Amino acid sequence: MRAFVFDKYKQAVHESDVPEPDVGDRDVLVSVVAAGVNQLDEKIRDGEFKAILPYKTPLALGHDVAGTVTRTGARVTRFTAGDQVFARPRDGRIGTFAERIAIDEADLAPAPATIGPVEAASLPLVALTAWQALVVKGNVKPGQKVLVHAGAGGVGTVAIQLAKHLGAQVATTASGEFVRDLGADVVIDYRTQDFETELSGYDLVLDSLGGENLEKSLRVLRPGGKAIGISGPPDPAFARAAGLNPVLRLAVSALSGKIRRQAKKLGVSYEFLLMAADGDQLRQIAALVEDGTLRPVVGKTFPFDQTPQALEALAQGGLRGKVVITGA
Ligand SMILES: NC(=O)c1ccc[n+]([C@@H]2O[C@H](COP(=O)([O-])OP(=O)(O)OC[C@H]3O[C@@H](n4cnc5c(N)ncnc54)[C@H](OP(=O)(O)O)[C@@H]3O)[C@@H](O)[C@H]2O)c1
Repeated sequence: MRAFVFDKYKQAVHESDVPEPDVGDRDVLVSVVAAGVNQLDEKIRDGEFKAILPYKTPLALGHDVAGTVTRTGARVTRFTAGDQVFARPRDGRIGTFAERIAIDEADLAPAPATIGPVEAASLPLVALTAWQALVVKGNVKPGQKVLVHAGAGGVGTVAIQLAKHLGAQVATTASGEFVRDLGADVVIDYRTQDFETELSGYDLVLDSLGGENLEKSLRVLRPGGKAIGISGPPDPAFARAAGLNPVLRLAVSALSGKIRRQAKKLGVSYEFLLMAADGDQLRQIAALVEDGTLRPVVGKTFPFDQTPQALEALAQGGLRGKVVITGA
């Protein structure tokens, strides 16, 4: 079957004829209709995640899919051929830039009935990230003040809507006013304004930029507030959960030493999040789409043949929401 792969780390992505996926007992074979593009695809190709996700090459990229179930493994109980589904396949089993992919049924959910496959494919990775940051780690409660950085991006567009749904007062940093339509109460144009001088007393910050942006984020929190970083640096809890060897665990934990010390001084906390596949959370996300709470934002679509251009467009930036590939 056709897939877009890279042969060695840092080499270009190209089309290739690859073997059909093996369908295990708990797997569902999905015929790919649309595949969302994420910055993680480029980061993996670039080797940035080698220590944590040691993939063998050649590797088919792609972390998001919407499509049709064509076959199910012997022990699959929740899906049958013909079902419309969406997923973020778990780490180690990615590869949605392909005609077909076998996915563990635990990672899969029925696609929301109210949207098409392009919009469905735009959601899994970013919506699960927003969910795991705001619901699982952040435990956002009504009336809390939440700052979502990069509100115009894939994660940001969903996180603004989800934070609003959870009853928060939401501020965001973005280069466009359109994020107000997603529910943002306060919009800081990061090109002309400094969010640190505009905002204070926040309960939670979702930071997707890292570096100085994360350091400044600590200073807009109220005492006891929390910053959740999705662009790093990784923290000791993550290093433990990732099952890294002791040397790597120490090295990885040390990366966040400075920011954790800064947080402690300010009486706030810092946590790193690396999102994980989760079909049950995706079902809850699908329900929010179906009742109109969550609206996917697709910035640009590309035909399957132009998968490298789709990756390039995301890297260039300047888009509102997600890049999606269609018609594998
Ligand atoms: N740890 C995890 O589990 C996890 C999960 C998902 C994503 N991530 C990471 O989080 C980051 C964002 O992901 P994404 O999918 O949302 O990316 P994306 O769709 O490419 O969006 C990035 C956004 O950042 C905005 N931006 C750039 N500089 C900014 C600034 N100084 N202040 C505010 N916004 C700024 C861009 O806006 P303009 O175009 O207007 O510049 C763009 O909208 C990536 O690094 C990604 O790898 C991590």
